[in-house]
Amino acid sequence: MTPPPPTATASIGRHYDDLDRLRRLNPMYDAVIDEIDGRMIRIGDQWLADFASCNYLGFDLDPEIMDAVEPMVRRWGTHPSWSRLLGNPRPYVEIEERLTELLGAPDTLVLPTISHIHSTVIPLLAGQGTVLMDGQAHKTIYDGCSIARGRGATLVRFPANDPWALEQELRLTAPGAPRVVCMDGVNSMTGNVPDLATFAHICREYDALLYVDDAHGFGVIGDSPDAAHPYGLRGNSIVRHVGESYDNVVLVGGFSKAYSSLLAFLALPTELKNFLKVAAPTYLYSGPSPTASLATVLAGFDVNATRGEAIRADLHDKTARVISTVNALGLYTPNASGLPIVELPLTRAEDIDEVGNFLFARGVYVTLAAYPLVPRSQVGFRVQVTAANTHEEITHLCDVLRELCQRFDMAAAVPDSL
Ligand SMILES: Cc1ncc(COP(=O)(O)O)c(C=O)c1O
Repeated sequence: MTPPPPTATASIGRHYDDLDRLRRLNPMYDAVIDEIDGRMIRIGDQWLADFASCNYLGFDLDPEIMDAVEPMVRRWGTHPSWSRLLGNPRPYVEIEERLTELLGAPDTLVLPTISHIHSTVIPLLAGQGTVLMDGQAHKTIYDGCSIARGRGATLVRFPANDPWALEQELRLTAPGAPRVVCMDGVNSMTGNVPDLATFAHICREYDALLYVDDAHGFGVIGDSPDAAHPYGLRGNSIVRHVGESYDNVVLVGGFSKAYSSLLAFLALPTELKNFLKVAAPTYLYSGPSPTASLATVLAGFDVNATRGEAIRADLHDKTARVISTVNALGLYTPNASGLPIVELPLTRAEDIDEVGNFLFARGVYVTLAAYPLVPRSQVGFRVQVTAANTHEEITHLCDVLRELCQRFDMAAAVPDSL
């Protein structure tokens, strides 16, 4: 019998079948969180320790930051509603001034989300020139680069985290037209910090603009790392962390991870900021962040200034406990930085459903890194530690990881001697 002809929608989204199966069948995806208690979450009858949060500094649960919301909402209403071009409540100005000082940048521009920024700013920077994209750049960067290509830019991918391969590509592009190099700062999968100094040096040599998304670094890494402060000071992001300048560098970051708020930023020269104010649709048309977000960003700056170093030290120690357990178990993780993103690949990608169920049943909530979010060879799960996770939760996670290794084949660490 001939099969029925496909309907108009039947062929849409086949690429996402694996993920859709997990979404339908695995409790770790598309879950409804019924209640939270600190970093414990309740899904139905099950309480779980949450290791899938990106609220690295625990600002979402900080009473001082919570207290800042109501007074500002009383003063400014719940939502400004003007697009930024039409009207900027004064807190925007304060946020940009304080952020510029924190980052040590020439200027800053805040917009609702990083995704908005990539999709509107990358095409404007690239024009009819060339976008050179790191092979493992975040999907939202990839989307921005694809839009740039659709508007006439040439898109070139260079091997992930390889500045010398980038240099080869830059040699091949004609000078004159814009050249924009797009990459991640702290990598959202591996937790590692790229060799930004070499990338910046090469970009300056070829008069290219280095556009870096440090969504996961802002708030966590900063100035002058040393043995006493392994993450560095002030959480002022990757450019300061590696001791670089902002010459030829546009830094993008967000408040939706470490700062637990809904706002994002570009650190850039004032000239470029003024261009974006008239050209970037997200400045011209998008609804702005709610007043509560502006309030939590400003209060976040205060807490960062007074307690930030202690919070980062605590986050570092809690992460170190997880990583030392991973190492003692002989598991492979790409994390070589000690930052709070610990990816644990599986030997067999098809185990992901069962691993998700196992962790859920043991009360541990993680991010499942399933295909096509990652290549099949990297399927596994990711543990993200936040300062709001308790030591008891970390102990429980480590116990569950020990048990997990007995039940499933996890990718093994390669011994140093090999
Ligand atoms: C590297 C990176 N960039 C951008 C985003 C998206 O940020 P936003 O929520 O501000 O759009 C994420 C979030 O997953 C991310 O990991």
